[in-house]
Amino acid sequence: MSSVSKALLHRVAEAGRAGVAFTLDGQPASALAGDTVLTAVLTQCGQLRRNEFSGAPRAGFCMMGACQDCWVLTADGARLRACSTFIEPGMALLTGREPA
Ligand code: FES
Repeated sequence: MSSVSKALLHRVAEAGRAGVAFTLDGQPASALAGDTVLTAVLTQCGQLRRNEFSGAPRAGFCMMGACQDCWVLTADGARLRACSTFIEPGMALLTGREPA
C-alpha cells in the first residue's frame, strides 16, 4: 500500500478567515472557518480515507454529496461525508494513512 502524505489541495486565495484547530490522524492541524472537512483534510494530505476493498487511497469524487466516496472516520468511530460537512473545532479525523 502506498502512503499519500503530500497535500492534494493548495490554497491560492481567500486565506483570511479565522483558523479552526482539529486533529488529523492524531496530529494537530488547522483549517479555515467555513472549510468543508474535505478541504480541511486535503489541504493537509493527499487522501481522505482508504477504499474498504482495495485499500487504495481515496479523495472524494463528485464534491457535491452524491458519490459517497468521501466518508471519513472520526476518532470516536463516527463516519461523516467530508464534502458536505463543515470542519468544527476539536474534530478528530482519521484518514487511514500509513505513518510517515
Ligand atoms: S465527494 Fe462525492 S459524496 Fe462527497
